[in-house]
Amino acid sequence: MSRICYVNGDYVAEEDAKISVFDRGFLFADGVYEVTSVLGGKLIDFDGHATRLSRSLSELAMSSPVTRDELLDIHRELVTRNGIEEGLVYLQITRGAADRDFAYPADAAPGIVLFTQTKTLIESPAAKTGIRVVSLPDIRWGRRDIKTVQLLYPSMAKMEAKAKGADDAWMVEDGHVTEGTSNNAYIVKGSTIVTRQLGNEILAGITRNAVLRFAREAQMKVEERAFTVEEAEGADEAFVTSATTFVQPVVSINGSEIGDGTPGPVARRLREIYIEESRKAGI
Ligand code: PDD
Repeated sequence: MSRICYVNGDYVAEEDAKISVFDRGFLFADGVYEVTSVLGGKLIDFDGHATRLSRSLSELAMSSPVTRDELLDIHRELVTRNGIEEGLVYLQITRGAADRDFAYPADAAPGIVLFTQTKTLIESPAAKTGIRVVSLPDIRWGRRDIKTVQLLYPSMAKMEAKAKGADDAWMVEDGHVTEGTSNNAYIVKGSTIVTRQLGNEILAGITRNAVLRFAREAQMKVEERAFTVEEAEGADEAFVTSATTFVQPVVSINGSEIGDGTPGPVARRLREIYIEESRKAGI
């Protein structure tokens, strides 16, 4: 059965979901996005995603074609129409269609597209086995705090990681890990969780925010600071977080096993807490 998508005000079958070839998202990657997970038919952390979306838009001097309440209604409508129990809602806003010009067009109407994907989030095999990562240079642009659709390098890095027999890459700048290709990166040393501080170098993950809050509430020690690949290789545990992976253990870095090479207790516990709390708070 074909999915129902949302395109610029209309709910349409996916084969009819089309936008202009002049759309600046297509020509310039002039657009921002959000991915919100769905558990038990409910949206997880919608508010966090909506807030970050507003910030991304404002950093690019772009306006939103919908209000926050309308956005919530559209998300819910798509979840219902597509019968999504477990999966995600993808949302993209672009500056809209205009004659190709590097300067932002004065009068383009922003474009908005949403669609859903069914995805196994809870019982994902990688959550049980953990993933292997390799380190690669972070050569993305300098405003990674804005969630733009220019994802070619993360995509290339993911392919390079796979070619090296790993599952994903951790990107490194000035000797320090920034983040994963599509997730935030963490190590655990003793009882301390270490993850890079927020700044222009990484995306402020909505899952990161929730997981750090739960960790602190559970009396775990958290340090927000940069760490090196060597420190990561010698860590007791490592993991990543994102809306689609929740908390996912990392069991090797550059071929060297982390801890005993299996998902560690801190990552497993945080995953449990995250899922339990998210289920309660979903809307
Ligand atoms: N990616 N860092 C990067 C570079 C990301 O692309 C993502 C999310 C995150 C985690 O953010 P959050 O916890 O808000 O999902 C960190 C999404 C899931 C994606 O591109 O599919």
